[in-house]
Amino acid sequence: MKYRNNNYSINKIKVSKIAQKFGTPVYCYSYEKIRENIKNLKKNFKSISPLICFAVKSNPNLRIIKEIGKMGLGADVVSKGELLKALKAKIKPNKIVFSGVGKTKNELTFAIDKKILLINAESESEIIDIEKIAKSKNKKVNIGLRLNPNTDAKTLSQISTGKKENKFGIDKIKFLELVKYCKNSKYLELECLSVHIGSQILNYKPYEKMLRAIASILRKLDHKFKYIDLGGGMGIRYNKSDKKLNYKKYNSLIRKFKSKNKCNIIFEPGRSIIGNTGILLSRVIHLKANKFKTFVIVDAGMNDLMRPALYNAKHAIIPAIRNKIKHNKIYEFVGPICESTDKFLTIKKFQKINKNDLIVICDTGAYGYSLSSNYNLRPKPAEILVKGSKYFVIQKRQSFKDLI
Ligand code: LLP
Repeated sequence: MKYRNNNYSINKIKVSKIAQKFGTPVYCYSYEKIRENIKNLKKNFKSISPLICFAVKSNPNLRIIKEIGKMGLGADVVSKGELLKALKAKIKPNKIVFSGVGKTKNELTFAIDKKILLINAESESEIIDIEKIAKSKNKKVNIGLRLNPNTDAKTLSQISTGKKENKFGIDKIKFLELVKYCKNSKYLELECLSVHIGSQILNYKPYEKMLRAIASILRKLDHKFKYIDLGGGMGIRYNKSDKKLNYKKYNSLIRKFKSKNKCNIIFEPGRSIIGNTGILLSRVIHLKANKFKTFVIVDAGMNDLMRPALYNAKHAIIPAIRNKIKHNKIYEFVGPICESTDKFLTIKKFQKINKNDLIVICDTGAYGYSLSSNYNLRPKPAEILVKGSKYFVIQKRQSFKDLI
């Protein structure tokens, strides 16, 4: 994804051509970039040979999950919907893990019937439900227990999940008790200890602490876990000031951990696979200036891309076609939604913008479309996958008929 003769392009296809053909706002993804990310992840963690389960919540597009599945990955799901999607994308059940604090009996029954690799339970109440269902089917069910390691992921508080005040996982004392419970059960096979401390983690140190917390609890237990599921969370560089997560370091920490605790590693990455493979294309509807700044009102809103409104996340914005005409006013990129948080970014240096110009909102492959909504009764955008010199509609734009 780069400029070719001042035209931002995916492979050799100008994004302006995609916008013209399919309208805006529109999400576009690069197949090659997805492949590259997965290759990198596999390469960096080769020595620990993890089972990589793509976190479907980051991007549940069927075609994307299918492509990722073909590259050998499994899936991490958090609802029956995601489980159905993963199965439809032909992900093998023995490569699917089911996470989440609030799985219903219906969801658990479905997962048990599908014989997925693991249900990672997050409470005593959930374990009791799983056991009851297993008993009624006279089956032994493979489960994991999600530990709350009380580790600060040093990321945005809204996407931090590993501290004791968070709803996720089971605290250390309860964890020890529940391990005993599971071991005594005829219907539960405790195969996994899982954790997930948060998302968009750029520093390896929280992972180091997390591994220490796991090692310490393992020392207190006389139970061999077949799997240790380390969750996802590997961050990406949204802005130049973001540091790259040191994969090498994280890998060597896990290797050390594995040498003392024999186990298979599972990862549940979402963002690190799909985040930087996608862009959101949007067209300028109006320009409106006041004394302080110029509002660039674009046709994508917080319903299409929620992250800036929800987390104050900053996604870079660049022109789809460079004109190199300097502009020294402040541009504030906003959407059409009736909320003041419907604001993407304020930029001091940008080329001169005209009505109908096309802009690119960068790195929106993860938690972009998946967090989108119909707020203000706006149809959801289309999604396009660019693969080689071809491109495909992998999700049609919602129609008003769908909505009204
Ligand atoms: N595993 C579990 C149990 C999770 O809860 C999550 C994300 C992942 C894996 C994948 O994490 P990743 O590798 O993508 O960081 N909407 C927020 C992110 C929320 C993440 C929720 N859980 C955002 O837009 O930043």
